[in-house]
Amino acid sequence: MPPEPTVAAVSEAQGDRKAAEKAEVQTYFETKGFERWNRIYSDSDEVNKVQRNIRIGHQKTVDAVLAWLVQQGDLEGLSVCDAGCGVGSLALPMAQLGASVAASDLSAAMVAEAERRAREAGISAERLHFETSDLESLSGRYDTVICLDVFIHYPQAAAEEMVTHLAGLADKRLIVSFAPYTPLLALLKGIGQLFPGPSKTTRAYQLREEGIVAAATAAGFNPVHRELNQAPFYFSRLVCFERA
Ligand SMILES: C[S@@+](CC[C@H](N)C(=O)[O-])C[C@H]1O[C@@H](n2cnc3c(N)ncnc32)[C@H](O)[C@@H]1O
Repeated sequence: MPPEPTVAAVSEAQGDRKAAEKAEVQTYFETKGFERWNRIYSDSDEVNKVQRNIRIGHQKTVDAVLAWLVQQGDLEGLSVCDAGCGVGSLALPMAQLGASVAASDLSAAMVAEAERRAREAGISAERLHFETSDLESLSGRYDTVICLDVFIHYPQAAAEEMVTHLAGLADKRLIVSFAPYTPLLALLKGIGQLFPGPSKTTRAYQLREEGIVAAATAAGFNPVHRELNQAPFYFSRLVCFERA
């Protein structure tokens, strides 16, 4: 009989798997994924029907966040961390509304494109600062921390840990969006029909909302606004939290 694996060996193996998955996601978003998502998050006509629908659904999520933030008060001077900013779909309009935004992404290609778009829009580097960084390495304190459609790359436990980490950077608000777990979506994903992310090339995780909310609550945040933003091929649950 082979020896039982020790706790240390199991946790080392889990750590290796996490690192391998992250490297896979990073490679994807530096190459094929960058090209795909840069097209989706633009007004390019070079998108297929699925990608066009993802674009529409994602814009609903961005618009919902902007509308909720504006409803909370003036964005002028608000310090915001946009964690996993992609090509800046949310970071740019927030800066244009007066927020002071620190935006970061694991992919240097995404960050370079976001910087290009910011320059093109005439947004100053003081107003909108970019950095290539994974979520885990982020530090500092912000009024509001936002992480949209990034948790698709995190299994449940890791996503909850990340909520705890991001909550530790937020003074007032934490805003996250993720593909929600529902039995129907799980079934459709299982048969390869429906998924709001890079399903064909990286692993994708649907998350249980109660776990995400429990992690934020334990970190001192209450959910104050929730909505489901959707379009065919895009499902994203948005949850806005405020410090209790
Ligand atoms: C589907 S895009 C969403 C981008 C942006 N939040 C938005 O809504 O426009 C997912 C982004 O998450 C980034 N990402 C994935 N894993 C990450 C990690 N561990 N740390 C930071 N960024 C990550 C990818 O590089 C990609 O730009």
